[in-house]
Amino acid sequence: MKKRVFVFLLFSLAACDFRIEKFSGGAERFSDIPLEATFASIQGNIFQSRCISCHSAGQSAWRVPLDTREEVLNSPRELVIPGNADESGLIIAITRSDNKRMPPAKAGSALSQQEIEMIKQWINEGAL
Ligand code: HEC
Repeated sequence: MKKRVFVFLLFSLAACDFRIEKFSGGAERFSDIPLEATFASIQGNIFQSRCISCHSAGQSAWRVPLDTREEVLNSPRELVIPGNADESGLIIAITRSDNKRMPPAKAGSALSQQEIEMIKQWINEGAL
């Protein structure tokens, strides 16, 4: 019985460690969801920390809000064409290499390859 409690404690500690590691360093995370190809995860893990400071009401890029899936899908700029990531304005914006790349250089580095792939996957799977 005692041994079981010990093993349980060990596992809890390991879990804590993992969380600390996940959150230390790199961009601040606003989401408890791991990065996966869903809007909630992408919004929480990427848009919140890298885009929303400009892409929200009252900010410089308020015309291109990235707060909700509806806003992103209904944008007149064809930000997301379900099933076609390569022609979606969102993907073009984060993968271009000129000075229109998002986020702008003054706001930090480009998104990681993994982040870009996850957004592409979400769009190619229908942007549900
Ligand atoms: C420092 C502020 C800032 C940050 C951070 C930022 N953007 Fe932007 N973004 C802008 C501005 C300003 C525009 C132009 C808005 C307009 O046309 O009214 C823009 C435009 C865009 C557009 C529209 C491009 C087009 O073709 O019309 C997309 C898509 C976009 N941003 C995506 C992102 C994404 C995704 C992130 C985060 C990874 C991000 N941006 C981070 C400021 C920012």
